Amino acid sequence: MCGLNKVMPMAYGLKVSKRLGERAIKTVSQLTLIDRELKIRDVEDSLVIPLTRAPSEEEGKKLKEALYSFEWVRDSFPKRARAVKSLVEALKNDLTPDLLTYLPKSMDIVGSIAIVNISPELEAWKHRVGSAILQVNRNVETVLAKAGHVQGKHRLRRFKVIAGTGETEVVHREYGCTYQLDPTEVYFTPRLSEERRRVVEQVRKGETIVDMFASVGPFAIQIAKTCENVTVYAVDVNEKAYYFLKRNVRANGVEKRVIPVLGDVRGLVERFEGVSDRVILDLPEKALEFIDVACRLLKPGGGRMHYYCFQSEPSVLEKAEEGLRVNVAEANRVLQDVVYKQRLRQIAPRRWQVVLDATVC
Ligand SMILES: C[S@@+](CC[C@H](N)C(=O)[O-])C[C@H]1O[C@@H](n2cnc3c(N)ncnc32)[C@H](O)[C@@H]1O
Repeated sequence: MCGLNKVMPMAYGLKVSKRLGERAIKTVSQLTLIDRELKIRDVEDSLVIPLTRAPSEEEGKKLKEALYSFEWVRDSFPKRARAVKSLVEALKNDLTPDLLTYLPKSMDIVGSIAIVNISPELEAWKHRVGSAILQVNRNVETVLAKAGHVQGKHRLRRFKVIAGTGETEVVHREYGCTYQLDPTEVYFTPRLSEERRRVVEQVRKGETIVDMFASVGPFAIQIAKTCENVTVYAVDVNEKAYYFLKRNVRANGVEKRVIPVLGDVRGLVERFEGVSDRVILDLPEKALEFIDVACRLLKPGGGRMHYYCFQSEPSVLEKAEEGLRVNVAEANRVLQDVVYKQRLRQIAPRRWQVVLDATVC
């Protein structure tokens, strides 16, 4: 235990030899345990890293796997200088009041990456804006600016690194699961975490599910971690997504319940025909083209389909339902009921991503 200093705040700490320092900082950052308001202490040949809380048993195990030797301590830590609270505060001396109005109002945080839209007015200032994002968000290590639309079979977007280390492979946490991923190589959006949770909560013990467009596994893994005795076939055509999916299945301890499958789901339909109680059809761009595949995957007696699509105004939900009904009928099935329908997010002016939960017989 290190000495107590009355003027410095006391906190939990992880004491490691300097040799393991970098790995320790990375690991506690990935576990979101590090307290970035406090400074790391340098004590002879060791570092003492401040933590926001006592680690859970599971986190303790992960740390043991990553760092064979360390010690828990309660210690006093010097405070870091007050963090800058907003982009406007960080940039008010560099940008004109007019330019300040173009600063990004929101960003996606994926692990330690911040993803932002830089408006054309700020193009010349993008690296300065990126540095300010690092300054304001202490957990962010790389800032990416969107440099195109999501496109192609793998649903990828181009990005430009505008600040930070440039490291794009990260670990993202969502509802107790961890996902290793690289947003430049696989599709991932943190914006649908609540939607994934909503679906997970519907799954019942013993179900078989096909996640037709699984990417790195955020539906499949959370289902397997939350629900007893399920079998989830998680399919993706992107080799890199499959690579991360396999790692994530292991990292989350769901090897017995999630079966990663690499390939085009249409080409795999005979292998999984009639197996599933539930299918997740999350390829909104091409949703209509895969309804026949989803129908074939469901058990002969029917099941639940979570159907995601893009739809333009007006009558967004009505048109989505009609498209689903027609295509289910063409696949010689019946759309018995739409039990839930919702606009999830606006993806362009007057254009929406929507979800329908349907019972298909
Ligand atoms: C919108 S993303 C899925 C996102 C994922 N469900 C999530 O929650 O993060 C669509 C995924 O479908 C995959 N994909 C596209 N066409 C496919 C096909 N024919 N068969 C299997 N996977 C496909 C892409 O590689 C991409 O990872």
